[in-house]
Amino acid sequence: MSRPRIFVSRPRLPGSGVELLASRCQVVQWGGDAVPRPEELRRFVRGCDGALLLGNDRVDAALLDAAGDGLRVVALASAGFDAVDQDAARTRSVVVTHTPGVLAESTADIALSLMLMARRRLGTAVDSLRGGGWRSFQMDGYLGLDVHGATLGLVGYGQIARAVARRAAGFGMSVQHHARTRPSDDHSRAVGLEELLRTSDIVSLHVPLTPETAGLIGARELALMKRTATLVNTARGAVVDEPALLTALRTGALHSAGLDVMNDEPRCDPADPLFAEPNLVVLPHIGSATERTRAAMVEQAARNVLAVLGGDAALTPLPG
Ligand code: DGY
Repeated sequence: MSRPRIFVSRPRLPGSGVELLASRCQVVQWGGDAVPRPEELRRFVRGCDGALLLGNDRVDAALLDAAGDGLRVVALASAGFDAVDQDAARTRSVVVTHTPGVLAESTADIALSLMLMARRRLGTAVDSLRGGGWRSFQMDGYLGLDVHGATLGLVGYGQIARAVARRAAGFGMSVQHHARTRPSDDHSRAVGLEELLRTSDIVSLHVPLTPETAGLIGARELALMKRTATLVNTARGAVVDEPALLTALRTGALHSAGLDVMNDEPRCDPADPLFAEPNLVVLPHIGSATERTRAAMVEQAARNVLAVLGGDAALTPLPG
């Protein structure tokens, strides 16, 4: 019997997930350094039984149809699945999987890093030093706001948010969260979104991007936040209205923000207004970017492919 054919959409993936696939399947791997365009994805996936893709590869009817009737599984090496047309997959009986859980702790580390960077103005301090700007120790130099003891508001209370809440305990923060289906627990108190925005010193976003959460934090929500507050986003860029955020920062309506995610990623124009704002720290979507976590994501995706092709249930199918 011929080995199943699996398309892998990036040339270099950390860990041994691709080797695992190659031990049982015929792997067709994208070789270019640039991210494959939709038409390239469609060309490569033709005739495949499965595909291991990243979260920013669009999985839509056109891609699924291009693959043909043999396609049984699309495994994302990503927790987020906002680029997936789930109805299209369902009607074609293609199982789509993702990798929740394995990246929660690393992403929580980056959320805490952004809180520290933004409130303690670490980026500004490092830039100043590198630019020869630290000429004397002044009591009012590089002043920021405390992270320890702050009230932290988590929007969404899934695995990443809960990992953030556990870390926050070590910083002596008082933690509250807003999530439709998650009650209070030992680490965090459930509150309404408005109360959370009004009373938190730091608001950290941990919701998936859906039609309900797109633009969730806009001008109105930013205006509810304290002028001394910090907004942190490690979820998806489109959850925040970027122009409204820039306005809030420029007018002093908000103290600071730390973003690991933006709209229209990647962004590489050095003149991008997001990069010039002194009270805004931006990272290039590195929440899960540790060697161990990225390897675990790829391996989990590979195991999902093998499970489905072997006739077993997917380990981590998309919810719902
Ligand atoms: C995820 O897994 O959703 C991260 O944002 C990386 O894509």
